[in-house]
Amino acid sequence: MSRNLAWKLGWYRQSELDGALLLGRMVSHTDDPYLIERLTRHCAEEATHSRLWEEAIRELELPHVRIHRSIQSFYMEHTRPPASLLEVLCFTQIFERRVHKRFIAEAADPATPEPARRAFLQMIEDEKDHLGWVGLWLKDQPGASECLTRFQQADLAVANQLLPYENHIHDLPDLGKETSGASGQLHAADR
Ligand SMILES: [Fe+2]
Ligand SMILES: [Fe+2]
Repeated sequence: MSRNLAWKLGWYRQSELDGALLLGRMVSHTDDPYLIERLTRHCAEEATHSRLWEEAIRELELPHVRIHRSIQSFYMEHTRPPASLLEVLCFTQIFERRVHKRFIAEAADPATPEPARRAFLQMIEDEKDHLGWVGLWLKDQPGASECLTRFQQADLAVANQLLPYENHIHDLPDLGKETSGASGQLHAADR
């Protein structure tokens, strides 16, 4: 159980960071002040989410897992990667809808330990704004609806692909590597 939790939270930590990096890179693709502001804030919040997972992992004294690929990377097995700001935001919208639903379920699960629940609740709040601004912006964009459908189809395929691994995430091929207690030592050395 705690092994699966360590892998799951490590996977979330890495995936939030990947989200932050993707959105942060998009800032240089626009000269619209509204998008610059929104993307910068969105990027910063995803990076904060990654930090919240890192803190929850430490508070729960879980082993750190070195994760090699984000949840988002699985989508690229089912569709081509987003290649423009519009495509990145369509992908973000579909992915965050999935995340939002998932986090609500995990926060409500009595098996979820308290530090993780706190992190979920914080992220559920932030996600409302992420879904809101991106959804609103996409409404006016030509081509958004087709693009959303493309990522929606990939989303269903990914959900089916990952479902059998729910309780043994470490068995997902090439997902990551356990680092045998190195985190405790590193933190002790930090202080
Ligand atoms: Fe997030
Ligand atoms: Fe988000």
